[in-house]
Amino acid sequence: MRSYPYTITISSEKGGVGKTTLASNLAIYLKAMRDDLPVTIFSFDNHFTIDKMFELAKRKDDKADVHALLLGAAAREVVHTGQYGVDYIPSSTELADIHERFKGPMTLTKMLAESGLSGIVIIDTRPDLNILTQNALYAADRVLIPVKDMPSLENCRNIFALFDQRGIDKKSLSLIPCLIDSRIKFDGIFKDQKTLLRAFAVNRGYKCLDTFISKSPKVESLNTNPDGKIYPILTHARGTEVHGQFMEIARDILRNHDATEESRACLYHTWLIEKEARKKESYLSRLEGLVDRCLICGSFFDASPDGRNFYFETSDRASRGFLHGDCVIEMLCSTLYGMSRDSQAYGTARMVVSSDKAGKRVSLFALRPGGAQSILDYRQFSSEGEELFQKDVEMPGFDSGEFDGVLDKLYLMLNEALAGYEGKMREGVWLSVYPVDSSHPEAILHEDNYRAVRKIQQCIADALSDKL
Ligand SMILES: Nc1ncnc2c1ncn2[C@@H]1O[C@H](COP(=O)(O)OP(=O)(O)OP(=O)(O)O)[C@@H](O)[C@H]1O
Ligand SMILES: [Mg+2]
Ligand SMILES: [Zn+2]
Repeated sequence: MRSYPYTITISSEKGGVGKTTLASNLAIYLKAMRDDLPVTIFSFDNHFTIDKMFELAKRKDDKADVHALLLGAAAREVVHTGQYGVDYIPSSTELADIHERFKGPMTLTKMLAESGLSGIVIIDTRPDLNILTQNALYAADRVLIPVKDMPSLENCRNIFALFDQRGIDKKSLSLIPCLIDSRIKFDGIFKDQKTLLRAFAVNRGYKCLDTFISKSPKVESLNTNPDGKIYPILTHARGTEVHGQFMEIARDILRNHDATEESRACLYHTWLIEKEARKKESYLSRLEGLVDRCLICGSFFDASPDGRNFYFETSDRASRGFLHGDCVIEMLCSTLYGMSRDSQAYGTARMVVSSDKAGKRVSLFALRPGGAQSILDYRQFSSEGEELFQKDVEMPGFDSGEFDGVLDKLYLMLNEALAGYEGKMREGVWLSVYPVDSSHPEAILHEDNYRAVRKIQQCIADALSDKL
């Protein structure tokens, strides 16, 4: 069976509140209390605390780090076995350039969902709410927000607001009073720092852990020593209050972890799979109704699938399929320049049409209603749906079902695509034709590409209704 991680993110916009200390020591306590549970930690920060703490031996410069993870490397390729049984992903100084490409706020959730990691993943973030932090926030089953004073408490508002903006449930978020100096006492009901912070938090509707973390000179000294190492609280500050507090936090996390049947990563993955299935289903149903031959020359594609350079679809979607590049170009030469294959300047017209504009743009064919003789409203649109060209084309003989020797291919296409009962054209229905990559013509029917087609069709519909 596939495994999914349970993710904990430590975040606060305020610097120096104890995020990294919490993240790294929590990893150690969790592992110590549950030996068989994999624990993986990484940090978006660039001061390498995580590395100094967990690195077993000086690492070769192998680039298997957080930067690689964010660029899409498989988690198993960048996770290193570290000290105290904790796995870690080395930090990177190169995360600044990643912001540009890291637009989606759910990218990390997706990565974790597909990572195959199990157990608990802990993410230490930078003191800001940049796109990486946002990703870490949304990916988390639990977000711990250390607060040490009023300004850091005020700052929490931004995290809660992010969740509100996206309509994400805030139940994963909880504050934890940190760096609490127990010597400080107040008069009145808020007798000390933690009581005061907790009261303010609750008053603002924020959930707050029952546990807090005391300020301890011993803990503070753990990252300053002649070895240049960072020592864990578990091994080097057992005598402090903080040790008991970390035990309590770890217990709380484990309880939560055990009670969670499906972590965010798991739910997201299920959702992704369902979405893919739906996409595939709609893709297949779009493939289903395709006309099996080129409307213009009539030859079947299953015999010779090559040359499908254009996709067409009528506005009522009753007729959809591919067209040969050659057939469309020839049809456009006659529609635009009144030239058929035997015309003198046909070669030039053909070159203009295929290399320049028409062949690369979306073409619209709409029959203009009323009048003695049908007129074709021909237009070109950009792939963004912007109208670039318009021409009215007279169609002698079209209504009476005759060919005129020049526009024959156009007539054929329109008749095939737009004919309704008893040879009458379906009223108000228009036809649009899209250039496609002939090596994968069906790709236009994939969800994302097809969405673009729909968008252009909406632009066309708007443009047509403007004129009426
Ligand atoms: N319980 C504690 N008692 C005393 N000092 C602590 C405690 N926890 C952390 N510190 C000290 O506070 C300082 C900041 O801690 P830490 O680096 O964990 O904060 P941070 O929120 O990760 O900071 P940044 O925002 O810069 O990443 C460090 O010097 C650390 O040793
Ligand atoms: Mg930090
Ligand atoms: Zn053809």
